[in-house]
Amino acid sequence: MKNSKILLGITGGIAVYKICSLINKLKKNGAEVKVIMTEAATKFVTPVTFQTLSNNEVCTDMFAWERGHDTEHISLADWCDLAVIAPATANTIAKISHGLADNLLTSTVLALPKETPVLFVPAMNVHMWENPITQDNIKKLINIKISNKKDKYFMVEPREGILACGYKGKGVIAENEKIIEMINKIL
Ligand SMILES: Cc1cc2nc3c(=O)[nH]c(=O)nc-3n(C[C@H](O)[C@H](O)[C@H](O)COP(=O)(O)O)c2cc1C
Repeated sequence: MKNSKILLGITGGIAVYKICSLINKLKKNGAEVKVIMTEAATKFVTPVTFQTLSNNEVCTDMFAWERGHDTEHISLADWCDLAVIAPATANTIAKISHGLADNLLTSTVLALPKETPVLFVPAMNVHMWENPITQDNIKKLINIKISNKKDKYFMVEPREGILACGYKGKGVIAENEKIIEMINKIL
């Protein structure tokens, strides 16, 4: 992971706060981290937190002309060695599995060069996770191969546990150690 460039996509789930410690661990392992947050993610934790932890400007807006990057989804896609989406909401997984590009994160993921891997770290309510639509969306992504039969999309499965909504079941975000282990495997 040392010296690797990781684009971290943060989407709008209750597990957003857990990504603070993940960024610290990635940085300690020598990675450079740039963050894109969806609008929903910014309702849970503000970009200032991730900006400070990553030492990089956090991107949230597709049309932020004042930063002087009119095609930031392309420059960020070209910059990274790996894109990690954590937490990955059911909504963003659904959008990416259908090729939608309606915000900075989904546009950037769609614009990634063919060889750049993407790691999903889903976290959601157990019914959202077990919904056949979510399962179909994630399976579709995991089964995609790039030309030399390499995988393009990876996932660290959610754990069973007590969810923030009070339900018991699968949907709790994976431990940071598991996420780091998978990142090391992919890189
Ligand atoms: C308090 C609260 C917690 C939520 N937690 C989750 C979650 O853990 N996982 C999920 O998939 N959606 C969750 N949602 C719903 C998402 O925020 C919603 O689907 C949103 O449109 C996701 O947008 P995004 O994918 O662009 O970030 C939650 C919503 C609220 C209000």
